[in-house]
Amino acid sequence: MVVTSAQAEIAQAVLWDFDLLGLEESPKGAEFSVAVREAPWPEAKLHEQLKSYNVTPLSLRFFPIEEEDWLALWKEGWEPTAMGERLLVVPAWLEPPNTKRNCVRIEPGMAFGTGTHPTTQLAYEVLEDLLVSHPRAGWMADVGIGTGVLSLGAAMLAPGLKIFGTDYDAQALLSCNKNLKLNPGAGDRIHLTRTLSLPCLAGAMPLIVANVTAGEHEVLDAAIEHALSREHPTLILSGFMSGQEKVALERWQHRGLKLQSRKERDSWIALHLQA
Ligand SMILES: C[S@@+](CC[C@H](N)C(=O)[O-])C[C@H]1O[C@@H](n2cnc3c(N)ncnc32)[C@H](O)[C@@H]1O
Repeated sequence: MVVTSAQAEIAQAVLWDFDLLGLEESPKGAEFSVAVREAPWPEAKLHEQLKSYNVTPLSLRFFPIEEEDWLALWKEGWEPTAMGERLLVVPAWLEPPNTKRNCVRIEPGMAFGTGTHPTTQLAYEVLEDLLVSHPRAGWMADVGIGTGVLSLGAAMLAPGLKIFGTDYDAQALLSCNKNLKLNPGAGDRIHLTRTLSLPCLAGAMPLIVANVTAGEHEVLDAAIEHALSREHPTLILSGFMSGQEKVALERWQHRGLKLQSRKERDSWIALHLQA
């Protein structure tokens, strides 16, 4: 399916509501290849859902493929991906190459987070800058942990870090759990909970990273504020598209946090805030 880049984010959100085997986004972010389980094709339902968000596909094509073919094709195309200065994300089915970088092995399954998406890269780069310039131990929360790629990367950079990872998606947590086991040492310090917010964490988290959509940020703000430590809180927020971050930034400035840095790539934006 091809849509305009302005409609790409909402189109992707709509696609994820179908029973997908996988989703691939072109580097420009406006062309999606998805594999759906449903038969017959959910064409009418898809058009209806897209229409309800005023999304009109420029083109939309259905064709049959075997599940194994899709996975094999997708696996063939995914190469080890460097993130920041110190991390290499390696597909679980490949041997990690000889490198000075920390290698995180990932089998994404149905979860988001192969390290190829700008939102993951920007969030990791901010985390890396922070953990390298100011080494820290103690707790971090990863809200919307997906495959676990950000948490595993952070745990490898900071051996004293313990991480509380949340996701509302049971499939994501299953994949993440496998990835924690694929990366013992770092994975052993990451604890997972399935939740829509951050319960029982009042003021416990000095560092929180959240890479979710702008809409989810709005939903999660209050829970994040509640969980954030009152002393020296640090927040890394990714997943905003151009124009969406201003209102989120204002919400946090009202809560007393200040912008420390901002990173942008391919119209995606990540923010680093501190008190
Ligand atoms: C864009 S992915 C990020 C995955 C990974 N952290 C990364 O950076 O690559 C967002 C993840 O957040 C989860 N998510 C979105 N909103 C959430 C919420 N309100 N509570 C918990 N998880 C949420 C989604 O299921 C998804 O796994």
